[in-house]
Amino acid sequence: MTDAVTFPLDQAVDVLERGGLVAIPTETVYGLAADAENGDAVAKIYKAKQRPANHPLIVHLTGPEALDAWAREVPEDARKLAETFWPGPLTLVLKRTDKAKDFITGGQDTVALRCPSHPVIRELLKAFAGSSHKGVAAPSANSFGKISPTTAEHVRNDLGEKVDLILDGGACSVGIESTILDMSENDPRILREGAVTGPMIEDVIGRAVQHGAKSASPRVSGTLKSHYAPEHPLRLVSAEDLPGAAQELARHFKTFSIIAPEAVAKRFSGVCVNCFGYDAEDPTELQSRLYDWMHQLDKSGADFILVVPPPSANGWLGVLDRLGRAAATKTEFL
Ligand code: TXA
Ligand code: MG
Repeated sequence: MTDAVTFPLDQAVDVLERGGLVAIPTETVYGLAADAENGDAVAKIYKAKQRPANHPLIVHLTGPEALDAWAREVPEDARKLAETFWPGPLTLVLKRTDKAKDFITGGQDTVALRCPSHPVIRELLKAFAGSSHKGVAAPSANSFGKISPTTAEHVRNDLGEKVDLILDGGACSVGIESTILDMSENDPRILREGAVTGPMIEDVIGRAVQHGAKSASPRVSGTLKSHYAPEHPLRLVSAEDLPGAAQELARHFKTFSIIAPEAVAKRFSGVCVNCFGYDAEDPTELQSRLYDWMHQLDKSGADFILVVPPPSANGWLGVLDRLGRAAATKTEFL
């Protein structure tokens, strides 16, 4: 991505205004965007994704100036967070105004709001929003339950003809979905881990942040246990157990691919179909490449994807969460 953004802006605005779907790059993952106040347009998102109808959507806005149009009783801390992290990968759940209809919120009294930083979606929002602070609803641009797209090609492969226009903004720099922070009750609570971490939020608001949804509400689709899953079974294996797992698979004539810390991955490159090594010191690298690697390994056709996960430490929580969900569909190991 260069700074000079060239894409069919007028056409994209036109599609949104006519109630169509535009696949848009954001810094996290690609989104499937529609006019957030047009019920028919939003219904098309659900249809294209085959997403259960009561799962609420995130509304994407131009910036903090649009907060009061969409949210009421906005706490001072939420404003501070928006000023600090927007544009960027933080979604705030707040009490809704009448602008956020049931078809966006799934009938809840709250709405999820975010201002993305990718220049293409920013330009588009600026051109589309107008004086009434219109927003676009945009879930990740993948079929329900599948791996989120981090390139325009991922979107084309999955949703292709179901989308009126796909804007190519290159590979997403963050690579996993935004952090979702519930600010609608007294205690701030992270509902989905992402690149904006608990400590980063605590630094700004000066108080503790809770982690995890209060109840296992199926309405937060990113919190479904099995999600972001490749077609081929993905298994988490410790570095110590990897040799045994590899031998066991070889004995049964099963092939496998690997995602592991670089040093580990190197040792196995000769025996697996495909092998990706990540920098075990830098969470942002695995974070930005994880979904693309999962897409690639899924296509490479190995029977299993083995992943040696990073340590359970701050900065790694987002990728660990996504890996846990990708591995949640249990089938027999062999
Ligand atoms: O990074 C992202 O957030 C991407 C890009 C495209 O912006 N979008 C994304 O959207 O991940 P989606 O629909 O795949 O995930 C949105 C999550 C869902 O888990 C949904 O249930 C939750 O946000 N959500 C939306 N409104 C909510 C609300 N009012 N309360 C709690 N969770 C909500
Ligand atoms: Mg999603």
